[in-house]
Amino acid sequence: MSKPVCLADFETHFLKSLDRNARDYFSSGANQEQTLRDNVEAFSRYRLRPRMLRDVSNVNMKTTIMGNEIDFPIGIAPTAMQRMAHPEGEVATARAASSMMTCMTLSSWATSCIEEVAQASGSGLRWFQLYIYRDKAVTMDLIRRAEHAGYKALMVTVDTPILGRRLADSRNKFNLPGHLKLANFSTQSVQSSVDTQQQSESGLYKYTQALINNKLTWDTITWVKSFTKLPVIVKGILTGEDAKLAVQHGVDGILVSNHGARQLDGVFATIDALGEVVEAVEGRVEVYLDGGVRQGTDVLKALALGAKAVFIGRPVLWGLAYQGQTGVEEVLKIIKEEFKLAMALSGCAKITDIQRSLLTYEKRYSSKL
Ligand code: GLV
Repeated sequence: MSKPVCLADFETHFLKSLDRNARDYFSSGANQEQTLRDNVEAFSRYRLRPRMLRDVSNVNMKTTIMGNEIDFPIGIAPTAMQRMAHPEGEVATARAASSMMTCMTLSSWATSCIEEVAQASGSGLRWFQLYIYRDKAVTMDLIRRAEHAGYKALMVTVDTPILGRRLADSRNKFNLPGHLKLANFSTQSVQSSVDTQQQSESGLYKYTQALINNKLTWDTITWVKSFTKLPVIVKGILTGEDAKLAVQHGVDGILVSNHGARQLDGVFATIDALGEVVEAVEGRVEVYLDGGVRQGTDVLKALALGAKAVFIGRPVLWGLAYQGQTGVEEVLKIIKEEFKLAMALSGCAKITDIQRSLLTYEKRYSSKL
């Protein structure tokens, strides 16, 4: 294969190189995958209104998220079980994020543990994605370990009281391969998927049903805030109503996300949800976006709509499958350079030059009727 020149090239390689169990798990969206397609396609409904003659000889992409400087506004979204994509999994991802001076978010369901990823990341910026377990002690242990290991924020997933239905995983009876484990957990029941012998469903679906707390309310967020001093970002908000509630409950940030279109099929694309969330929070907390970001102009569009940064998930897995740490670095370098070019060609020399007026919208769907 010739050297990848855009993120889609890494996907082509990924689809050919992984076994079906892993490939389908990473690639699938929920049910008929309407939102999976739309997350990507929706970006093209926003068009750019570039400005000229603005001296772009020096484009500066640096920004901050939760007070920490990053070299460019593209972080790594949490994705589970990265060792299915490459033997070094999350450790390789952490090294890549650190060398590229951006943020890595580690999944609760990682195949490398909190502490080894912290070590690999060194002085790199790392956040921790938190699932809230039915067993409070399990959740509390994850939070304390993330704090001790130098993670700088908690990203609490709020869109997964039950795992979404991914048809390929049901057909494949998806499970984590036997040589891997959910490395953040010491007891067997929390470590591995449930009942590998008798399942007639995705093992992860059963795992979630058995162990993840499906009674979460905003009180849970209040509890997390009271239990930790780390900034708390809620991941999975898609409406202005919930964004306002998030602010009222003292969150520090909101990640506009539909979980890579893996939960409720038919929800709107994240780029379509972003505007109403940004409007609702009125600048009181930082807003980020993940879902469907595949090129530099997508990043520009999200920032123009008010995101402080975007996060990428699947493209990182494609990079990992391609060449481990180097592959993830390549993915980040390509989208970073694309973003720089997009900034320059639209007349933006620094992040604060990226304004709402940069966009025009083809009206087909809107997030509020
Ligand atoms: C994990 O978060 C998943 O969506 O499978």
